[in-house]
Amino acid sequence: MLTEFEAMEKRVSVRAYEKRAVEPEIMLELKELTDEINASAGLHFQLVDTRDANAPAVKLSAAMFSGTVSACALLVGPEDELGGEMVGYYGEKLVLRAVALGLGTCWVAGTFDRGSVDPVLNDGEKLWCVVPLGYAAEKVPFKQRTIRAAIRKKDRKPEDFIESDHGPASLPRWVTAGAEAVKAGPSAVNQQPVNIVYRDGLVIARLWKEKKNRMMYNDLGIAKYQFQVGAEHAGVLGFWNFGDGGEFIADN
Ligand SMILES: Cc1cc2nc3c(=O)[nH]c(=O)nc-3n(C[C@H](O)[C@H](O)[C@H](O)COP(=O)(O)O)c2cc1C
Repeated sequence: MLTEFEAMEKRVSVRAYEKRAVEPEIMLELKELTDEINASAGLHFQLVDTRDANAPAVKLSAAMFSGTVSACALLVGPEDELGGEMVGYYGEKLVLRAVALGLGTCWVAGTFDRGSVDPVLNDGEKLWCVVPLGYAAEKVPFKQRTIRAAIRKKDRKPEDFIESDHGPASLPRWVTAGAEAVKAGPSAVNQQPVNIVYRDGLVIARLWKEKKNRMMYNDLGIAKYQFQVGAEHAGVLGFWNFGDGGEFIADN
């Protein structure tokens, strides 16, 4: 199994899948992690596993995706902004574990048939995203290569991810590593709406775009998780306070 950092480096949105069911042992590992997340974070993630790629776990839009998946994660959580952020944070943890176990994934908020899945929703909860779990096609079809190239063309420059009074040379290595991980992470329509602010020794994550939308709270949580994986690889462990503008508290 890959380390979490290796999985982070390897992860891309997979939009072309082989017709091959995910092994039960892999689904069991993901189920254990899902149970752990739900118990500790108050989320309601659910796994769908048909064990048969001829019976897709979710109908993905044919305009974006090719192939089928026998499994997927339904990322259900509280419908408010904090819920969105927590879904992002813990959803990315689940995505990176799936990648470490050899699977291809993609965060999908829009381009799937909502009628093809049947999540259990408690009061105040919503289905934020689905994450197909399957095997990436060895040869990525031309169409999916074009989609990826078109979307990633909007990438921001690495230096745009950090707001600081320090010049790049005097930033702590772990902060730069964390911000690089944010840049490598997924975000809805690749908007990359999260910045890392480093001022007076404090590290915070904030949504820099004036116009906010709901999905940006998924992106905020994802960015925080990505940052943590990057910082840890550079030797600094810590945890985030939730919320837009929440602080990263490094262990000493
Ligand atoms: C919250 C969220 C929702 C997304 N929704 C979709 C979607 O509906 N359809 C899709 O094809 N990709 C979707 N994506 C994937 C993004 O387009 C992708 O992460 C981004 O373009 C960066 O590319 P990468 O993940 O390959 O690094 C979503 C990503 C996030 C984080």
